[in-house]
Amino acid sequence: MNFSLTEEQKMIRDMARDFAERAIKPIAAQLDEDARFPSELVSQMAALGLMGVAVPEEWGGSGMDNLCYAIAMEEIAVACASTAVTMSVNNSLVCDPILSWGSDSQREKYLRPLAKGKLLGCYALSEPGTGSDAAAQKTVALRDGEHYVITGTKNFITNGPHANICILYAMTDASKGHKGISGFIVEMDSPGCSVGKVEKKLGIRASSTSSLIFEECRVPVENRLGAEGEGFKVAMSTLDGGRIGIAAQALGIARAAFEEAVRYSTEREAFGAPIADLQAIQMMIADMATEIDAARLLIWRAASLKDAQKRGAKVRYSKEAAMAKLFASEMSHRVCTKALQIHGGYGYLKDFPLERFYRDQRITEIYEGTSEIQRIVIARSVLSELSGK
Ligand code: CAA
Repeated sequence: MNFSLTEEQKMIRDMARDFAERAIKPIAAQLDEDARFPSELVSQMAALGLMGVAVPEEWGGSGMDNLCYAIAMEEIAVACASTAVTMSVNNSLVCDPILSWGSDSQREKYLRPLAKGKLLGCYALSEPGTGSDAAAQKTVALRDGEHYVITGTKNFITNGPHANICILYAMTDASKGHKGISGFIVEMDSPGCSVGKVEKKLGIRASSTSSLIFEECRVPVENRLGAEGEGFKVAMSTLDGGRIGIAAQALGIARAAFEEAVRYSTEREAFGAPIADLQAIQMMIADMATEIDAARLLIWRAASLKDAQKRGAKVRYSKEAAMAKLFASEMSHRVCTKALQIHGGYGYLKDFPLERFYRDQRITEIYEGTSEIQRIVIARSVLSELSGK
């Protein structure tokens, strides 16, 4: 087992860190305040190859591995969790399923511009009454000659108002349950597809979230992603990778909170010395540092397994991705709470970044599968491993 990074991994870490420090960090608080989607940052990330990190160069991506992607996500999230989730959705929920399940013509038409950041993608699985129980889709896609006619509403769609392309899941045969779900690549300017309510949120306010409405939206058969009825597998396997990205986002937020807390603790004095001299503060610093490293190791393990799978190994990393997301998101909660506590009353003020980190962190325990769903995925996997089924 090798814990040191390759030259390429170090290079993307340094590049993403430099970009985040220089271009994102100075405006992150204002983006949050204005709840403004940072289109200019998305274009700059595209120019740096960050919108298709693990997409092979032959399909317009940066041709790096998934560990590189996780490393870059962490760095971007340290500066701004909203910008990070925009990047995460495009990379892991949109580019990745087209790479893994798409035809060459779909890759040419959609993956190439998505990976280059010329198009932006979103992922539409959740519905108003269908969140954790993803198999209970109500959106229907009815075959009509060479088209599917899609009707339904999707909600909580990250990037929804700004996306050009949507990876959409719908029931092509409701009598078959999850085996009746199919995936589609939908162009957002198709007649019958519209953006619904844009949500106002507690955190990640510079990321745009909306519902999407499909009213007899006609999608060509050649835009089906995978075989008819294979959509649930496409959706779930895609989320395995997505959860690594969200885990890295949670890690980045935790690191930002931790670094602020350490800096503050060496500057702020109480009882005649910096508060970093107090054991009460040192206990918190030690716990935060340990948990951050533990989360990173789980994330890197999951990303490495995904890379092994991409190289052809017969491995599934659902459990490891769920463990990484569960631990990193809940760790981020604990770290943000401690970091805010170290700041005392100042941590509660908008003049300091802690309250933004605290608000931004919360969603990482909810989207791309709640903590409870991650525990279900982990437990089912452990039980089947131990029972040999
Ligand atoms: N990879 C491949 N196949 C998978 C899979 C995976 N990770 N997980 C399940 N499957 C397959 C199973 O093997 C099974 O196949 P067969 O029928 O051939 O045996 C089939 O799918 C059904 O599996 P389950 O019985 O486990 O399905 P379930 O109905 O019990 O659901 C669940 C499982 C884990 C609860 C799932 O519904 C789930 O993950 N729910 C959470 C949904 C979620 O994460 N939503 C996030 C929305 S996207 C988002 O938030 C993006 C954003 O904007 C940032």
